Amino acid sequence: VMDIRSLYAKTGLFTYDPGFTSTAACDSAITFIDGDKGELLYRGYPIEQLADKSNYLEVCYLLLYGELPTPAQFKEFEQLVTRHTMVHEQMHYFFRGFRRDAHPMAVMTGVVGAMAAFYHDSTDINDPQQREIASIRMIAKIPTLAAMAYKYSIGQPFVYPRNDLDYAANFLHMCFSVPAEEYKVDPKIARAMDLIFTLHADHEQNASTSTVRLSGSSDANPFACIAAGVACLWGPAHGGANEACLNMLRQIGTVDRIPEFIARAKDKNDPFRLMGFGHRVYKNFDPRAKVMQATAKEVLSILGVENNPTLQVAQELERIALEDQYFIDRKLYPNVDFYSGVILDAIGFPTSMFTVLFAVARTVGWISQWKEMIGDPQKKIGRPRQLYNGATARDYQPITQR
Ligand code: ACO
Repeated sequence: VMDIRSLYAKTGLFTYDPGFTSTAACDSAITFIDGDKGELLYRGYPIEQLADKSNYLEVCYLLLYGELPTPAQFKEFEQLVTRHTMVHEQMHYFFRGFRRDAHPMAVMTGVVGAMAAFYHDSTDINDPQQREIASIRMIAKIPTLAAMAYKYSIGQPFVYPRNDLDYAANFLHMCFSVPAEEYKVDPKIARAMDLIFTLHADHEQNASTSTVRLSGSSDANPFACIAAGVACLWGPAHGGANEACLNMLRQIGTVDRIPEFIARAKDKNDPFRLMGFGHRVYKNFDPRAKVMQATAKEVLSILGVENNPTLQVAQELERIALEDQYFIDRKLYPNVDFYSGVILDAIGFPTSMFTVLFAVARTVGWISQWKEMIGDPQKKIGRPRQLYNGATARDYQPITQR
């Protein structure tokens, strides 16, 4: 092993940084995070202001093109996205190939990747126009695919998009309408859904975004790259945390059982972690968690379920953890996933859909990062190095002599 290390030494500067805790893989002008201050900016705009004053589609425009749209630009963008919400009818057969009880995220990794086969006229990454069409197609169609994955999982017929509704309201319609009864979209619930999308729209070089960039660095087509992002997002340490978090809150069940779970989270011999707590970059409150907490309370009161036991457990768990020395020392605060599950559950989504909704929202972030990378004249194929610690060179032994 030492011989090989000295070989590396000859090749010049070499950094070993598992988990990329201090290695920048790119430069980017899209999203800024100050983890110590708990600050998140999209193209320079604080997330709190966007959450309060903007809407998801406007945020999509901002992330994609760098500036907030004028009224005319917004109208054009909205019409463009709306025009692309339908998916190819043949896609229905593709869905039918999955087991009916398949996890919707498993279905999503398949159907998003399959878009390359359905829309191969927008897979040439060297053509800026095709890149643009692929981007719009994904922002418009991934919510439709997500709603189809949901409908398929519960055995209901697919619901076609309605172009008179806004992005979030249309998504709720596709998920909750049934042929016999159109879902009545409450504008306040649609607003909460839109807010969840806005808060999840981008988060610089997280694992799924880095996966998209690494996949895209080989000039793979955009649909394949976004499918890779969806697959990575599914992990419980990343986008799967909102599902895991709600399951945990339900498992805790009542406020009196919280100390037992806090003790487990602190026990190094127990693999249990407090889901929705801690973040690689935020060593302070995740600013999205604060907005999410307020929204959770609002949505539950609109739905008349303020006394929801899961919300009570979440609030009390947060209070106890924030006063506990273990969490203080490690700077562990609630992250975006801590309250999002409570809201989605109240709206009526099963936990298996939580990460799917995250994927819908994050699509624009992945695409913006992918487009930025493809347009970068310095672009290089991503090729991490390794620190080899295996056997040194040795001679092959025929099987009879082993
Ligand atoms: N519960 C209990 N202890 C924790 C938690 C937690 N949720 N998170 C971190 N710790 C502890 C670790 O055990 C470690 O303790 P030690 O120093 O005594 O060994 C210390 O805090 C640092 O933890 P790391 O795992 O080194 O921190 P890292 O930055 O690698 O991990 C992560 C970040 C993966 C998010 C982690 O905090 C975690 O697993 N959280 C729960 C899952 C979760 O909520 N993920 C969502 C992330 S946000 C998102 O993807 C949108």
